Amino acid sequence: MDKKRVTDEQRLLHGGDYNPDQWLAYPEILKEDVVLMQKAHTNTFSIGIFAWAALEPEEGTYDFEWLDNVIERIQAIGGRFILATPSGARPAWMSKQHPEVLRVDASRRKLLHGARHNHCFSSPYYRKKTQAVNAKLAERYGNHPALLMWHISNEFGGECHCDLCQANFRKWLKEKYTNDLERLNDSWWGPFWSHTITDWEQIESPSPIGETAVHGMNLDWRRFVSHQTIDFYKNEIKPLREKTPDIPITTNFMSDNPAFTPFTGLDYQAFAKEVDVVSWDAYPAWHNDKEDTATLAAKVGFLNDHFYAMKDQPFLLMESTPSGVNWHHVNKAKRPGMHYLSSMQMLAHGSDSILYFQWRKSRGSSEKFHGAVVDHDQSPENRVFKEVARLGQTMEAISEKVVGYQRKAKVAIIYDVENEWALNDAQGFGLKTKKYGETLQKHYQAFWDKNIAVDIISKDVDFEQYDLVLAPMLYMMSEKTAKQLQAYVEKGGTLVSSYMTGLVDEADLAYLGGWLTPLKETFGMAPLETDTYYPTDKNSLEFNGKIYDIKDYATIIECDSAEEVATYRYDFYQRTPAITVNHYRQGTAYYMGARLEESFLTEFYGELIADLGLTPPLDITHERGISVQAREANGLKTVFIMNFTEDLQVIEINEEVRDIQTDETLSGQLALDPYEVRILEKKGWFVDSNDQLSL
Ligand code: GLA
Ligand code: ZN
Repeated sequence: MDKKRVTDEQRLLHGGDYNPDQWLAYPEILKEDVVLMQKAHTNTFSIGIFAWAALEPEEGTYDFEWLDNVIERIQAIGGRFILATPSGARPAWMSKQHPEVLRVDASRRKLLHGARHNHCFSSPYYRKKTQAVNAKLAERYGNHPALLMWHISNEFGGECHCDLCQANFRKWLKEKYTNDLERLNDSWWGPFWSHTITDWEQIESPSPIGETAVHGMNLDWRRFVSHQTIDFYKNEIKPLREKTPDIPITTNFMSDNPAFTPFTGLDYQAFAKEVDVVSWDAYPAWHNDKEDTATLAAKVGFLNDHFYAMKDQPFLLMESTPSGVNWHHVNKAKRPGMHYLSSMQMLAHGSDSILYFQWRKSRGSSEKFHGAVVDHDQSPENRVFKEVARLGQTMEAISEKVVGYQRKAKVAIIYDVENEWALNDAQGFGLKTKKYGETLQKHYQAFWDKNIAVDIISKDVDFEQYDLVLAPMLYMMSEKTAKQLQAYVEKGGTLVSSYMTGLVDEADLAYLGGWLTPLKETFGMAPLETDTYYPTDKNSLEFNGKIYDIKDYATIIECDSAEEVATYRYDFYQRTPAITVNHYRQGTAYYMGARLEESFLTEFYGELIADLGLTPPLDITHERGISVQAREANGLKTVFIMNFTEDLQVIEINEEVRDIQTDETLSGQLALDPYEVRILEKKGWFVDSNDQLSL
């Protein structure tokens, strides 16, 4: 991508979704907006996201005048705009005149016009029309000096089961299985419950998904939906690539909610290859009643590190709320200081922007009570507006020390969405306790608590750049991945895996004849059985002189060359290994056979961190809830210290750093107010012979 274009101004982007098309009948409000934008220290606006009805009020009749005016005003205050393509929602005339654009749900019900994000990804008409409107936008605004980037559609997701999509599914399958039904039946375990397919036309998408027992088909359907969505996106961007080859393209990704784990609707790691910059929409439920602030902050960290790793480059926070949202179960206002803190966390993890949904609260419809910079009171004096402005001021002051700065990690956790699809489909184990995303986040938390940077990577990246790779619950694993993990350990890497790993291949077919040989060799053991626990079942193990409870899963293990790290204390597998370690060639592989409480993960990974000599970006001593994250460029490090607790915290900085806001030199004790953030600078700590950026 052309990274330069997004960052050439060396300023962090601050602003967000601006929907002037909702306010065209209120010209005084549009004028007032730009006054308030300056007061809020904002500089970037995403416009036109749902503006198709305003852009093309009748088929083939376009109206850009209102948009010209809006853009002119933004430019006049020195702002930039991110121009959206409007395909996330469509005008009513289109649904009426061309019903093929309407989605069909899994029960084969055609949806009526309404809401948004509900078009068919196959419809030739919709594809043609999105290209046409996008071409017009590119022709008119492609050379505009204030145009920063393209925002394609909005939060792609969902699936369509119409006849066009069914035909495309079959076409995709024919290609995948090289026109060979026997291969498809093998892969789908066809004869099970008489599901053998004898003609391609018999294939229909799973209906409704989840009720069908053919796991190979479910998995292929998920893959197809992801493929078809990305294909739709590629179709959308064609005219933009042709007419504006230098303007970067993004589309806003999201998380799974309310769990706040990676989004499972699409394969984002594949999608990320097609965008120039990754951007995402983050709506954590701060101050909720289920977890403390630090635990949720670690989940936010996890997702950020996931989005960063997708392209190994800074990303954009495309949407967030300065206050509450409107769609959580309880829509709580961010407490004073939380907006500032939570925004700083995004910057600390690699975002080059803080953008909001939305600039101004709508007057009507479902989002009229969603948090926004400008409330219905239209006042720059209210608490939320003032906090946004304070953040904007800080962002202006620190931009130079943050924009484009990178993150570096020596620890990686593998996240694989296809694995999650297969795992969630697997009928067995505990139907509700698999929790792949949440489990990874718990492992991640042990590193976050100690300020050790982590990349959340796909299974296809080069593992050798990491000192430690975690691959818990990698249930679906190809032989290729098994061999890559083996090669990584062989050459000196440290690998940790867990229960429910390496059980099925890429078609979700169980491996026959025991565990895969590369895994057996690497771990020096084999899992024999996975026992699943009721919440009332009790077992535990002893590690470093302490007893830790086991929950949900326990693997019965047969050791070969591996040594026991801990053994089960009860049940018929009492005194057999629960955790093992194997020194294989130049590396080490741990197998965690049981699911353990968080205090165990803290202890276990704490020891590994020490053994591997992994260091945080800053040497500080603190209580739980303080987070330190850093970005670096040219041997300089910008370090964010963040207090994710509701208490005053006194920390000890064991080296010398400079506060980039106050210019003070800091060392020794430092008091942090609840939710306080300090932004410091220090010279590079990342000493690595391959690392040009280090000092
Ligand atoms: C999503 C959408 C926005 C808006 C927000 C509200 O992220 O992209 O258009 O609806 O949710 O939180
Ligand atoms: Zn369709």
